[in-house]
Amino acid sequence: MFARKCWMLGLSASMLALGFTACNSLPGHPTSAAYPLRPSAVTDYSQLYSENCAGCHGLDGKFGPAFALNNPVYLSIVDDKTLTNIIARGVDGTAMPPFAESAGGSLTHEQIAIIANGIRTRWSNGNIAEGAPPYAANGAGDPVSGANVFETFCATCHGADGKGGAMRGSIVDGSFLALTSDQDLRAIVIAGRPDLGHPDWKDYVPARPMTAQQVSDVVAWLASKRPSMPRGASYAQRN
Ligand code: HEC
Ligand code: HEC
Repeated sequence: MFARKCWMLGLSASMLALGFTACNSLPGHPTSAAYPLRPSAVTDYSQLYSENCAGCHGLDGKFGPAFALNNPVYLSIVDDKTLTNIIARGVDGTAMPPFAESAGGSLTHEQIAIIANGIRTRWSNGNIAEGAPPYAANGAGDPVSGANVFETFCATCHGADGKGGAMRGSIVDGSFLALTSDQDLRAIVIAGRPDLGHPDWKDYVPARPMTAQQVSDVVAWLASKRPSMPRGASYAQRN
């Protein structure tokens, strides 16, 4: 009888101990999976993209206030190194922030690589945009020829002087141009904004794709409309 009692006591003591160690899984207590990961330990593309990029580039890489990344033509002309560098270092003088820890951001190199890779695997269709002008300008454009290029390729939608019309907003607006780099204008002209129904380099005029020089010239024309900035201020000059 005594032995049996002792055994039961021992059992309940060990159950108690078990109870204590198993406290973390009591109903209502969050499991370890429910605790957020340390920010630097997040390796899930969707979480990284939605937390860091979606606010400006749109949840699915489209319909955001900034350039749509869900754009196969863009992804065909930009190489991995450039894509990674832009994410790591941002674009000076624009709203695009640097994300690398080494540049004052909050993402590790591994996380930046996951994002760049995820953008490409999700939103590139694997096709090469045959005949597309190169991502980087090959020398300066000529704003005077650019005015003619604008007439030919853009004025139908953006109005004779780029100030917009009944359908489209102005693309020579000072505050828009002051915050937009030449490189971004170039990317928009070449790759368009499929999400907003914006044509790309080959679709402005039927059977008349834009040449690399025409792209550089129209960008130079737009850049010539940029308001001059007060001393000390800078706007992006990536070309
Ligand atoms: C606060 C807004 C903002 C956030 C957040 C942001 N971007 Fe940007 N991004 C911009 C703007 C604005 C530009 C255009 C900059 C310019 O004028 O060159 C840009 C440009 C870019 C470009 C270059 C497009 C080109 O012209 O070649 C890439 C690539 C890019 N962003 C990726 C990302 C990724 C990936 C993230 C998240 C890790 C991110 N951005 C977060 C605003 C943002
Ligand atoms: C078929 C009509 C059409 C043509 C042609 C066209 N655009 Fe656009 N453009 C749009 C639309 C749609 C938008 C989206 C904003 C809006 O609705 O005003 C836009 C916006 C833009 C923007 C701002 C993009 C942004 O992300 O905010 C720029 C810059 C631009 N266009 C440049 C050009 C240039 C340069 C040309 C000529 C090479 C051109 N567009 C030709 C329809 C057109």
